[in-house]
Amino acid sequence: MIKVAPSLLSADFANLQKDIERAQAADWLHVDVMDGMFVSNISIGVPVVKSVRKITDKFLDVHLMIEKPSRYIEAFANAGADLISIHLEADMPPGIQDALRIMDEKKVKKGIVLRPITSAEAVLPYIKDIDLILVMTVEPGFGGQAFMKDQLPKIKQIRKYIDEFNPNCHLEVDGGVDANTAPLVVEAGADVLVAGNAVYGSDDVEKAIEFFKNVGQK
Ligand code: DX5
Ligand code: ZN
Repeated sequence: MIKVAPSLLSADFANLQKDIERAQAADWLHVDVMDGMFVSNISIGVPVVKSVRKITDKFLDVHLMIEKPSRYIEAFANAGADLISIHLEADMPPGIQDALRIMDEKKVKKGIVLRPITSAEAVLPYIKDIDLILVMTVEPGFGGQAFMKDQLPKIKQIRKYIDEFNPNCHLEVDGGVDANTAPLVVEAGADVLVAGNAVYGSDDVEKAIEFFKNVGQK
């Protein structure tokens, strides 16, 4: 079965507890952290993760869209993140390695993220040592954008790398995932789907989550 990670970016921040309860059927919760530098938008940070941690046992999948993420790994881990993913474009390789090392020390799961411009091969130096690869199918920064179909070959290539080098690594896809695009993404090899608008923009949140969980089931 596919894991679904509703993106809290599309939730109502004034009613976050209610929106988290509405997503009870989900496996994970996806938390989008933006610094206004790595991406133009600013979203939420450490205190929100800390508060969310107090009201749910769900696996917190924290997607950092921030420059030089090694500066904040410890804080997000202490706030209760279960997995932290960092963009390969957000620092030079030694900075990325530093961030991953701190995740190890803090015993949180490790993810790397690729912007649409970044090629599949970029995962190779890290793949054996990580728990998740996140492929962006929109330019990071905002929810509700159109899915970039040209990322599908990259998802397929990364699935091949994962099968060869680290079969336990998750392959997550984020951006424009909806009822039309989810089957393409799962067919290409993803096993975790992030969905913002398609979950929180739906009249029936539970039904939307169940739909995504069962994508690809015969
Ligand atoms: C975009 C974020 C996404 C976003 C997805 O920068 O990383 O997680 O919330 O939203 P949808 O599913 O609406 O494209
Ligand atoms: Zn995200």
